[in-house]
Amino acid sequence: MPGIVILKWGGGLITHKEKICEANYEIIDSLANVCFKSGKRLVIVHGAGSFGHLKSKQFRLSEGNIDGFEQENGVRQVREDMLLLNSIVVSSLEKYGLSVKSFPPHTWAKGTGPNFSGDLPFHEGITVVYGDVVDDDGQEFGILSGDDLMVRYAVESENVERVIFAMGGVDGILRVPPSRARSDDLIEEWSQNMQFEGEHESNIDVTGGIGLKASRASMIANTGKEVLFVNGEISERVYSAIIGKRVIGTRIVSGNS
Ligand code: IPE
Repeated sequence: MPGIVILKWGGGLITHKEKICEANYEIIDSLANVCFKSGKRLVIVHGAGSFGHLKSKQFRLSEGNIDGFEQENGVRQVREDMLLLNSIVVSSLEKYGLSVKSFPPHTWAKGTGPNFSGDLPFHEGITVVYGDVVDDDGQEFGILSGDDLMVRYAVESENVERVIFAMGGVDGILRVPPSRARSDDLIEEWSQNMQFEGEHESNIDVTGGIGLKASRASMIANTGKEVLFVNGEISERVYSAIIGKRVIGTRIVSGNS
């Protein structure tokens, strides 16, 4: 069986983060193109960006059911918005003739965090899943981040070649927040024992920003897999990362030493 590459398309990368439900078609298309060119079997996990975080924040969906607070509409709307973003991603991949199947997590996953329940679905071509509002036994519903899906796919898929997080606006993990970073602030190799000064836009981000991504990536690296963060706006880097060529970015290494 050919190897598989697990790839996250960050929500901030594929949407215009501050404008509600606006996809970045250009970036989506460039990512779809490199996925096609790579010829690899892929699991693509995409984020939500402005199709998920803004309304989830408004309806306080990550907190689960809050008595006396109307959230049903919010759950429905965010699920619909995510289906829309997902259909844009899938159509773009299909345009390149790829065999794609998408599995909306609210139909098969329950619970949040990396230990959510549900059997991971796979397609023999390109499997697509995404961060979603899912049912939860304790709090009725919650937000399952794409970063948690990344952990499970990285750990449970057979024959994983490498695991890549494509991000918007940054070359990888930086020593200081992007607004203050210079070109030598890129951390080329990172493990969970190292510090960095992350910035979490908690006013718009309902999951965990770069901190969550780094923690999930190190969970994967600790299982011995190759994990890389790259700038998703530079499609050649995403391409090189997928096919396993050396590329500018942050390599996440195991902290179990
Ligand atoms: C968030 O998923 C899902 C919702 C808000 C519905 P992610 O955590 O994977 O999204 P991004 O990549 O940060 O946008």
